[in-house]
Amino acid sequence: MADGALADSLAAVRASFGEVAGFFNDSPWRDRLGLPGVCDFAFGNPQEMPLPGFVAALAAKVTPQHKDWYAYKGNERESREVVAASLATITGLAFEPADIAMTSGGFGAIAMMVKLFANPGEELIYSVPSWFCYAPIAHLAGVVPVTVPMRRPFALDVDVILGAVTPQTRIVVVNSPHNPSGAIATAEELKALGDGLERINAGRSRPVWVLSDEAYREIVFADGAFESPLRHIRRSAVCYSYGKRLLTPGQRIGYFAVSPLAPEREAVREVMFYVQMATGWNFPSALMQYALPELEKLTIDVAAMGRRRDRLCDGLEAAGYRVTRPKGTFYVLVETPGDEDSFCDALSARDVFVMPGRLCGIPGHVRLSLTASDAMVELALPRFAAVAAQR
Ligand SMILES: Cc1ncc(COP(=O)(O)O)c(C=O)c1O
Repeated sequence: MADGALADSLAAVRASFGEVAGFFNDSPWRDRLGLPGVCDFAFGNPQEMPLPGFVAALAAKVTPQHKDWYAYKGNERESREVVAASLATITGLAFEPADIAMTSGGFGAIAMMVKLFANPGEELIYSVPSWFCYAPIAHLAGVVPVTVPMRRPFALDVDVILGAVTPQTRIVVVNSPHNPSGAIATAEELKALGDGLERINAGRSRPVWVLSDEAYREIVFADGAFESPLRHIRRSAVCYSYGKRLLTPGQRIGYFAVSPLAPEREAVREVMFYVQMATGWNFPSALMQYALPELEKLTIDVAAMGRRRDRLCDGLEAAGYRVTRPKGTFYVLVETPGDEDSFCDALSARDVFVMPGRLCGIPGHVRLSLTASDAMVELALPRFAAVAAQR
């Protein structure tokens, strides 16, 4: 990179995201994308047509009903009301529309939260393995990402998180259901984290907040149950995306919502709009906001995805693989027999594409997305078995 020509933050952004960017933009997966016979487990992308209700909700709002139909949109009143009512039901807390900032997906909400609470040089803690975008988002804001390991079997390690808090810490990420392990944080873990942060915050002028990344809140299988971090942690905010429950990540809508219990609730409400504006008009498009009351009623067929999880995990186990059967999210973690790179190469030679675990901070594993179709699962299982047999 040309020294000094660009912003200083970019070196760290690139270093933390370079492998994912390479995989996304220029890789055998990208070259083979969408071709017949390809089994695509790489990203949480749809492999089938979108929900008819999703298309109908957008189509119903496309024709302008007045001259301001496609004027600038912000935190629209109806959108905020829909979200506040939904969060009140999920958490039992008295959310008001003014607590909600409508954003460009979960990404927009997370980037906004980092800007809201952390100064350059301050720290954001997250647990690994993890989604691969917390670090680059933090780096672009000049915020220092700090990683802590999860417990095995996968769970939040609350003692390790609390032990990693320094005077510079401003945000702790709780991602539940968790990408990539599918673990769901329990009430006991969340209460312990909330109590620990209360003790830490009692002695500080700049408190630590919990960023509750709930992108997969509705993607929970029959043997799991979502527990809201906001019920246990006062200084917390939800970062949410509709892109997972609708499986439409290319049509952006999500939100940031500050907890009604946060002592600084009013101060946060007052500055949200400024942060959204100054980070590049971080709002969903007009059409997505008009459609939201209908979209809020829709979710992909999670029971069918649960059956796909079991078919895939059972098939992989029968072939000798060790898998983590997720309680939620789109993802199945699989231990690689032997070296991760050569395993991924052997699969891609058979047109099976998976995410190398290294990219999620868990070398020696691969991550498979359950957004693959049932037909892809059936095609891929014999190919996985053939690769296992050769190793
Ligand atoms: C854990 C997690 N958080 C947030 C996001 C961002 O979601 P969106 O692209 O819908 O904004 C993702 C997307 O993969 C994710 O896995």
